[in-house]
Amino acid sequence: MKKIKFLDTIQNMNILAIETSCDDTCVAVIKASGKKKPRFKILSNIISSQVEIHKKYGGVYPFLAKREHQKNLPIILKKALKKIKIDLIAVTIGPGLEPCLWVGVNSAKDLAKKLNIPIVPVNHIEGHILANFVGKIQNSKFKIQNFPAICLVVSGGHTQLILMKDIGKYKILGETRDDAAGECFDKVARILGLGYPGGLIVAKMATKIKKEQVPRKREQKSKIKIKLPRPMFNQKNYDFSFSGLKTAVLYTYQKSKIKNQKYKQQVCKEVQQAIIDVLLKKTIRAAKDYRVKTIILGGGVSANQELRKQFKVQNAKCKIPVLIPLKNLCTDNAVMTGIAGYFNLNKKTKNWKKIKADANIRI
Ligand code: KG4
Ligand code: ZN
Repeated sequence: MKKIKFLDTIQNMNILAIETSCDDTCVAVIKASGKKKPRFKILSNIISSQVEIHKKYGGVYPFLAKREHQKNLPIILKKALKKIKIDLIAVTIGPGLEPCLWVGVNSAKDLAKKLNIPIVPVNHIEGHILANFVGKIQNSKFKIQNFPAICLVVSGGHTQLILMKDIGKYKILGETRDDAAGECFDKVARILGLGYPGGLIVAKMATKIKKEQVPRKREQKSKIKIKLPRPMFNQKNYDFSFSGLKTAVLYTYQKSKIKNQKYKQQVCKEVQQAIIDVLLKKTIRAAKDYRVKTIILGGGVSANQELRKQFKVQNAKCKIPVLIPLKNLCTDNAVMTGIAGYFNLNKKTKNWKKIKADANIRI
């Protein structure tokens, strides 16, 4: 059994975590303790969403997002810090939108200096992965030593398959060559005029189809049939591509004479399934190729109910346990930043000048 050495002497600390990599201003305080099986208690988890502001543009505008972070962060920090003694600050330094990241990093530095406490820099992608280590898992049989694992991180900015040899030891096996899976959901929603952010809206539209009665044989013939491509499905690598799928939706929609709600629901169901098919196939293949003990999901798209269900079904078939974060910890939040901070205590520093945002940092 491997030991996580740097955790051996650590007991009970309050971590203030700050996450401003995209359009959500997130602050959390977690109580962390333990050695081989660390335990986390969420004391606060505050997310100030900017959805309403970016909605009208159908996407995130970095400088608008930065302005909102600057406005909202001091307010939610004040809320989170009420009557709580903080021992450490964890802050996301990247990857993400540079102007946004700096708002979090600068305020973490100001606060750390004021309180004279160390900062741990956190990688956003590692945060999404380690979001799995809070909640149900704390009472489960899963051991932190169940590695190697294959991690699928699917968000609005990233789609990566990562081999995780241990906590802190990662190798990117493949990633998207163009759009991320979440980006594809968002762009499809925009094409269909459904609003922003698209993931949840497309998912909701897709479930509406399921709830309807199965048509009788005669009706089946007149039923709209939409077939979309599964990009790179059969390619023997671990890369993805979703921009062609989005374009296929655009052409299909433009060509179609019917553009009613029912038609849009069909498109949503098919595009969601196309994305799941590719993610599932490549993840399972990587898991088998590397003979891993666990599959770990993370990122906003892993909140997708159908994806969660189909991964669990697959997991039962191939008997590789799959970890998926609690739904509210899939999309951006600062709890995951705090957890990643605890696992990276060896990087903590009071040399605050050293903490810098890095928009393109790799895991
Ligand atoms: O991880 P995240 O909050 O932010 C980034 O790091 O990018 O992921 C946001 C992405 C968005 O593209 C959003 O549409 C997608 O996650 N998303 C979903 C669902 N909830 C959020 N995609 C599919 N189904 C969902 N239920
Ligand atoms: Zn994210």
